[in-house]
Amino acid sequence: MAATAPVAVTPNPGPVPRRVRVWDPIVRIFHWTVASGVIANLTFLRHEENPHIYVGYVVVTALVVRLIWGLAARNHARFAGFVPSPSGLIIYFKAMLGNREPRYLGHNPAGAAMIVLLLVLLAAVGTTGWMMGLDALWGVSWVETLHEISANVLIGAVALHVIGAIVESIRHHENLPLAMITGYKRAAEGTDIDNAPIAG
Ligand code: HEM
Ligand code: HEM
Repeated sequence: MAATAPVAVTPNPGPVPRRVRVWDPIVRIFHWTVASGVIANLTFLRHEENPHIYVGYVVVTALVVRLIWGLAARNHARFAGFVPSPSGLIIYFKAMLGNREPRYLGHNPAGAAMIVLLLVLLAAVGTTGWMMGLDALWGVSWVETLHEISANVLIGAVALHVIGAIVESIRHHENLPLAMITGYKRAAEGTDIDNAPIAG
């Protein structure tokens, strides 16, 4: 009996994933803790001294965890993966003006620059808030002024941040705030830029 020739079996690569997990739980919990804490402290807890301080410290704790995670993580949360260089930022803005900026799976350079500013402002608000409670600085007006100024600059930065998130959501046909809740985004395709492994 003639032996039948072996048939080459191509492994089935399976369906290409349509959604990938980009934001891990630490990033998402950090984001919504900080956003709700900051909004509460700027509005109904603004003059409620004790709750304001407790919520402020929750925000500061979330910030410290995120800063450590930004150095330790190997996914899109890693600072080294998204903090833009000045030239990278200029290239991205030029592409935006020409309406041809690529879609990023992680933070895009403009969003990332704003995120760095938000992190610095959060640290400034937290530090000046903590300083206000020190015996040596209690009632010292320049500390209170710095706390208020950094909080006001933070309001402006958050407004630009939210506008940016909405504009980029429209331009790239995806709901970025929803992705910050679920962690999932549309998988990279074509000219999309994905410079980190998917979230673990
Ligand atoms: C006080 C309010 C807020 C603060 C301080 C804040 C701060 C931040 C920070 C620090 C990040 C970076 C996340 C990370 O990598 O860990 C971020 C990302 C993000 N935030 Fe906010 N946020 C605020 C409110 C909001 C709101 C209300 C929205 C909804 C419209 C929003 C939408 C987003 C989105 C979509 C991203 C991811 C951006 C991207 O895809 O690159 N944020 N935010
Ligand atoms: C989440 C970040 C925070 C934001 C956005 C924020 C914002 C503000 C704002 C807008 C005021 C009111 C200034 C005025 O109108 O006179 C204020 C007051 C104050 N903040 Fe904060 N703050 C934050 C965190 C903290 C922290 C971490 C502390 C202390 C550990 C703190 C302690 C205070 C104190 C003692 C006052 C004076 C309260 C009063 O009027 O009786 N804050 N803060």
